[in-house]
Amino acid sequence: MIILGLETSCDDTAAAVLAGRDLRSSVVSSQDAVHGPYGGIVPELASRHHLANILAVIHAALDKAVTAIEEVEGIAVTCGPGLVGSLLVGLSAAKGIAFARGIPLVGVNHLEGHLLAIFLERQIEFPYVALLVSGGHTSLYLAEGPGQYRRIGATRDDAAGEAFDKAAKMLGLGFPGGRVIDQLARGGDPTAIRFPRARVRGSKYEFSFSGLKTALREFLRREHGVEMTAASGALRNVIPERLLCDIAASFQEAVVDMLVTPTLGVAEALGVSQIVVSGGVSANSRLRARMEEDARRRDLTVAFPSPRFCTDNAAMIAYAGARRLERGERDDLSLNAVASLPL
Ligand code: KG4
Ligand code: ZN
Repeated sequence: MIILGLETSCDDTAAAVLAGRDLRSSVVSSQDAVHGPYGGIVPELASRHHLANILAVIHAALDKAVTAIEEVEGIAVTCGPGLVGSLLVGLSAAKGIAFARGIPLVGVNHLEGHLLAIFLERQIEFPYVALLVSGGHTSLYLAEGPGQYRRIGATRDDAAGEAFDKAAKMLGLGFPGGRVIDQLARGGDPTAIRFPRARVRGSKYEFSFSGLKTALREFLRREHGVEMTAASGALRNVIPERLLCDIAASFQEAVVDMLVTPTLGVAEALGVSQIVVSGGVSANSRLRARMEEDARRRDLTVAFPSPRFCTDNAAMIAYAGARRLERGERDDLSLNAVASLPL
């Protein structure tokens, strides 16, 4: 079956063509340049830019796949969770195509897309423990089978990607900042500054990153007399490059510790040897290295999608949608966007 996947849940406009197991194309139009100056995603701007870009992105995906719209046999579209205005753009486009062409439509939970992204590149066996770690989510799931996901823990406050982005903003590194911190950290000492590793009392598998963010702010104030404001951005030139690298490496190490420990712990507790890490933050090089190293030591196996399938994309939505269509699931034109859609 040839599936067109659409993803517009946050700030990336994405379309992909999946023919059976063959990913013919995956096109992502980033809005980083639009939101960068604001230091975060501006929902109204995100939906407006989706609207301006969606048709061009769909055409680009079809062209790249050398597939005519007449050949498409099903549409998979993200229906939540995400920004409602953004989701509605993808949904409206999907419904329009499904109606005009008389082909089946299926709504996909964005989180399921991330959890199944690994299957775009390789087959793994269920069950597996999935760490989903992105700008909006930090959660642990037990994936028991296709469509069967049990949530084990989640963040109580910020998502890990949000922590990276907020730290980058304080350091004047722009938005989104995870990738920049990853790069700077390569030249820094992860033991230079001892940031706290938060533990949620009474729960081994919950996360909390807001204390770490506060610790960084306090460190900058105490050590460098820098008062943080929401619009801070001048530090890049204030802090010597060497120290900036040490801060990035130490901050990143704390986030990585807080992600690795519960993930491996839950796999061992459940007796599940396969772990999958997905979402934008799973592109982080230190997280990958540490997960692999620590998992090997405990006889666990960890798999990561390639970076382009870790960050938001429509290939993962097409894949998850294809599995749902195969199972006979269909949605009608009343399918709606749900901002906090649970998995
Ligand atoms: O999955 P994603 O593309 O969008 C959401 O659904 O949130 O994830 C984006 C997040 C951002 O917070 C970004 O800073 C982070 O992923 N990110 C990284 C890296 N690449 C992207 N964080 C740390 N290291 C990276 N290499
Ligand atoms: Zn995502």
